[in-house]
Amino acid sequence: MSDSTLADPDVSHETPGQQFFPPFSVTPELESEANGRISHYPESKRSAVLPLLHIVQHKFGFISEEAVSWVAAKLDLEPIKILEVVTFYPGFRQYAPGKYHVRVCRTLSCALGGSAELMEDLCKEFGIDRTSADPHHHPVSVSPCGKFSVEFAECLASCGTAPVCLVNDDFYEAVDVGMMKKACQE
Ligand code: FES
Repeated sequence: MSDSTLADPDVSHETPGQQFFPPFSVTPELESEANGRISHYPESKRSAVLPLLHIVQHKFGFISEEAVSWVAAKLDLEPIKILEVVTFYPGFRQYAPGKYHVRVCRTLSCALGGSAELMEDLCKEFGIDRTSADPHHHPVSVSPCGKFSVEFAECLASCGTAPVCLVNDDFYEAVDVGMMKKACQE
């Protein structure tokens, strides 16, 4: 399968956030990290799909088509099998977020705690237009400067301290806009 057949026409792969992430490239470090993970699954290296995708997203910000093809080749799978995983799990992205990516929990406790209003306020604060956001093809909305992005997430497992957000890999409870402004400068 060629890379071009992997492209989802509904997903724009260009965002202003791209400037904050290195372009995908297969470095000796990436190869060695990936081989290390694959070695944990001697019976079935296809079980390393999730670990490899996490490595790629952590290093490059998102899972590009090139990265999908590389993971597929490492695991002797068809690229479509990798793409199925990427599109199944909401935690994987097909385009670059901002330098500071805010995931706002919208499940019941956080919804009652004002997560929809919090999302609106964050968009105003960061200059983000969410009108074209949709949960399947375009969940992440990026500011024009590329520094900030937002996305709704499902329960982040701290329902008693709603509303709850993740900023990149850091967890925040009882969130307000001031807290997020500060978190997105650190
Ligand atoms: S509902 Fe938001 S953390 Fe559970």
